[in-house]
Amino acid sequence: MNFRPPGGAAAFWDARYDHPNHVYGYKPNDFLAQNEILLRRGSRVLCIGDGEGRNGVWLAERGHRVTTVDISAVAVGKARALAAERGVQVEALVGDLETWVHTEAAQGPWDAVVSIFCHLPADIRGGISQALVGLMAPSGKLLLEAYTPAQLQLGTGGPSEESVLLNRERVQQDWAGLVLDIHLVERRIFEGMAHQGLSSVVQVLGQKP
Ligand SMILES: C[S@@+](CC[C@H](N)C(=O)[O-])C[C@H]1O[C@@H](n2cnc3c(N)ncnc32)[C@H](O)[C@@H]1O
Repeated sequence: MNFRPPGGAAAFWDARYDHPNHVYGYKPNDFLAQNEILLRRGSRVLCIGDGEGRNGVWLAERGHRVTTVDISAVAVGKARALAAERGVQVEALVGDLETWVHTEAAQGPWDAVVSIFCHLPADIRGGISQALVGLMAPSGKLLLEAYTPAQLQLGTGGPSEESVLLNRERVQQDWAGLVLDIHLVERRIFEGMAHQGLSSVVQVLGQKP
């Protein structure tokens, strides 16, 4: 339940991102790209665990006001460079979501929260999600895609620790207070070198009443 990557999350992710290419590629996540139409132009969007910025930068290119937060300084450096290269403004922050959601910078209110493969330890995940529900604007949207426990058999990407994977019940518990549309899907994912092939994911569209 209290799983943490060996050496701590920041060191683990810094080492993973210490590579000349973007580990998860340069294109936005498919589920996000398909559902961005739900966001009003110029929305204030928070992308949690945004890594090297492929999603946050793409949302900024679509005209949204984007803040990203990630625990890896290496990833955030790559996200800032990608934003500069694409000529868009993104507020790309280094932070541990466990504490960051309680800071001034997190206050929002957010028109949308985007969570793409942001797999967090089970003992902190609910508290982070509930803090974010509180920081979302009325009618604010949640767009979330994550691997399910069935992904462990497929082996095409994602964490090997079961407790950080998401299913319907975990999503309902974490994001209580939102109206949730939850789909369990098998789909082919090709995102950089880390996500490659048939995958089991949960896709969530949420809205704050
Ligand atoms: C699988 S990667 C996904 C990155 C990005 N969302 C994407 O799809 O390209 C998960 C990300 O969550 C970040 N992360 C893990 N634990 C975190 C925490 N406690 N606070 C902030 N970010 C965290 C990692 O640094 C990593 O970038």
